[in-house]
Amino acid sequence: MTEEKKKPEQSGSEKKGLGRRDFLQGLATVPVLGAFALALSRDLSYERKRKAQAFSHARKRTGDVKEVKIALLGAGAQGQVLMDACLKLPGVRFTAVCDIWTEYNQRRAARMLDKFGHRVNAYEDYRELLAEEKGLDGVLIATPDFWHAEQTVACLEAGLNVYCEKEMSNTLEGARKMVEAARRTGKLLQIGHQRRSNPRYLHCYEKLIRETGLLGRITSARGQWNRAVQEDLGWPQRYEIPESVLHKYGFNSMHQFRNWRWYRGLGGGPIVDLGSHQIDIFSWFLGANPAAVIANGGTDYYAKTTHEWHDTVMAVYEYETRDGIVRAAYQTLTTNSSEGYFENFLGDQGTLHISESAGRGGVYREPQAPQWDEWVRQGYLLAPEKAGQATRADAVLDVRETIAPDRHDIPVIFNDPYHMPHLENFFDAIRGEADLTCPAETGYETAVAVLKVNASIEAGRRLVFDPREFHI
Ligand SMILES: NC(=O)c1ccc[n+]([C@@H]2O[C@H](COP(=O)([O-])OP(=O)(O)OC[C@H]3O[C@@H](n4cnc5c(N)ncnc54)[C@H](O)[C@@H]3O)[C@@H](O)[C@H]2O)c1
Repeated sequence: MTEEKKKPEQSGSEKKGLGRRDFLQGLATVPVLGAFALALSRDLSYERKRKAQAFSHARKRTGDVKEVKIALLGAGAQGQVLMDACLKLPGVRFTAVCDIWTEYNQRRAARMLDKFGHRVNAYEDYRELLAEEKGLDGVLIATPDFWHAEQTVACLEAGLNVYCEKEMSNTLEGARKMVEAARRTGKLLQIGHQRRSNPRYLHCYEKLIRETGLLGRITSARGQWNRAVQEDLGWPQRYEIPESVLHKYGFNSMHQFRNWRWYRGLGGGPIVDLGSHQIDIFSWFLGANPAAVIANGGTDYYAKTTHEWHDTVMAVYEYETRDGIVRAAYQTLTTNSSEGYFENFLGDQGTLHISESAGRGGVYREPQAPQWDEWVRQGYLLAPEKAGQATRADAVLDVRETIAPDRHDIPVIFNDPYHMPHLENFFDAIRGEADLTCPAETGYETAVAVLKVNASIEAGRRLVFDPREFHI
């Protein structure tokens, strides 16, 4: 269970400073707003530690921090993203890189690190790295999903802290072994659901959902990741990996090596690859794991021989939250990019629209909800933009149509690389200065929720979760 799900309600005195309590007491004296004030005070509890991490990450950039020595395992597209983010953080030193594509990704990563003054030893096999490298504090794992469990367990057993990319594992058995190894060794295991450290997401969760309860009773959620048609990934012919090496590492061909996400046994398809990030947000923001899921999907567009996992998936989850049932619809499309990717939370008093894409997001008040002026004054939201005005003046609306609500912007602007705060949280945890925002147990709960979508498609029916499934 994630920390926030376990946390009991705090008493009023533990919650916030006088200013906030005064404000709530003031509200409660106005009869119309009394119920609203009560709802607000009920939601005041949230994790101070996490808030401190989120809002202080900028401070570290310039500060004097203890050096952390790390290795990168898997220097492909995501390995590059993680490296770029790490190179912007003080006190992080790469000493080794491991990648089986020695002539291409491994060489590129080693050269780049060298350019930034990080002298690294390069390895093809992670076992050699573990045998040779001494003095490492941690490892970043960005290999294909089916390698995560074996490599994470081995690194933890070798006494290293691990940042492992999502999906934690392509099998629940693998994910379970990772949790058990983290517990057994006492080492840190951060799972790469980086939104959990994103200041914009933290603001929405802590301030808008937990503290103010601005959305009222959340009754439904919606999320999607729609992507345009993409060619299969290719490779430069002169850098083809010998067949014997491919086989040694579990790949049948260069095509499979490059497009592992689509193959059974290696990845989980777009629903796992992309959906895991956002289904993780459903559970986090709703404070509950799903109770049931029904999903539909198939390989409708691409060749089934090269796209063994579904290119189109639509799923509906049911959550039993402390306020009642929430139904959450989620889809991944790989043939059309309409509206990109986002998560929406819809309550009887407002709607939150949020996306990792920094340019998106907003909060919308339902017409009958109490005014949000005080929250705007306190900086929880920006003043509403009269976004619909031009069209409202021009358009002739049928009397039965609802006028679009004003859009309030989320005040936390986050322009750093998306993964930077999550990596920083990992390094701070190694230094003993923070708790992980996505520890192994949290990653496991999300893996249980996400992998059930493929199981529901296979079964062709609604599947119910046993609450015990989420815990080891
Ligand atoms: N958090 C995010 O936003 C995010 C985004 C993209 C990918 N990812 C995750 O990152 C991981 C890597 O994805 P990617 O897009 O970089 O894939 P990729 O195919 O581009 O890169 C994988 C790299 O791992 C290397 N590799 C394969 N097997 C290996 C092994 N046994 N030992 C060492 N190296 C090995 C490959 O040569 C390649 O360089 C996946 O788990 C993926 O789900 C996370």
